[in-house]
Amino acid sequence: MSTHKPLKGQRAIVTGANSGIGKAVALALGEAGANVVVDYLFDPEAAEDVAQQIRDNGSQAMIYQADVSDEQQVQAMFQATIEAWGSVDILVANAGLQRDAKVVDMTLAQWQKVLDVNLTGQFLCAREAAKEFMRRGVEPSLSRAAGKIICISSVHEVIPWAGHVNYAASKGGVMLMMQSMAQELAGDKIRVNSIAPGAIKTPINTAAWDTPEAEAELLKLIPYNRVGDPEDIGKAAVWLASDDSDYVTGTSLFVDGGMTLYPGFREGG
Ligand code: BGC
Repeated sequence: MSTHKPLKGQRAIVTGANSGIGKAVALALGEAGANVVVDYLFDPEAAEDVAQQIRDNGSQAMIYQADVSDEQQVQAMFQATIEAWGSVDILVANAGLQRDAKVVDMTLAQWQKVLDVNLTGQFLCAREAAKEFMRRGVEPSLSRAAGKIICISSVHEVIPWAGHVNYAASKGGVMLMMQSMAQELAGDKIRVNSIAPGAIKTPINTAAWDTPEAEAELLKLIPYNRVGDPEDIGKAAVWLASDDSDYVTGTSLFVDGGMTLYPGFREGG
């Protein structure tokens, strides 16, 4: 168990925290001393398992079912957190999905679903977080900032992605939404940043890494020559949520093994 607790006493909401990157972020924030709301939509058992692991590590945790694309459910989640713990200090807007199709085959429903969850969902959560941070202001005993918003974006906020125009559009949208919010909220001592993961071993992209052949293909795109682990993102989230990054706002932190350096020539590659 880590004795380094840079987030001690802070209260975090992590959306889509029952699996993948959200789960790793929730666990890492808990390990760093934060109390964590584990938001989920499906699979309460998995969410409860994450919450229990956080409690076992000495922080508080509760699970909450909310669809991030539903305004009322998002507002209710923030209210419940504030009622239980007094306020919120950290939002990690992580919940996201893919509905892949060639553009000529993509249905409006596939387009809309991805935009609703990946972009509108982050907006709805960030708006509630910002309102609460502004209401409360800075609590110097907890953090130099009034609050921290971390958007989970993707390398596809800058790398076009054929066959995934809905997803790339949503993440490109997250980038400028994040930067504009960072500019607007900086005067209120609210920091807004993104983590832009590359290929990480999560359920969203299992087919891309779970056989040796698929992994070998994927590694051709990754100069650092390994597929990322969810924990790589968890560690980045702790840093962005902590005062160690107090002078960082409006940034996309690429955690991608160099994927954005494509074509990523390497010795023998
Ligand atoms: C996607 C993954 C993909 C990765 C790198 C992520 O945003 O969700 O499916 O493997 O980008 O292309």
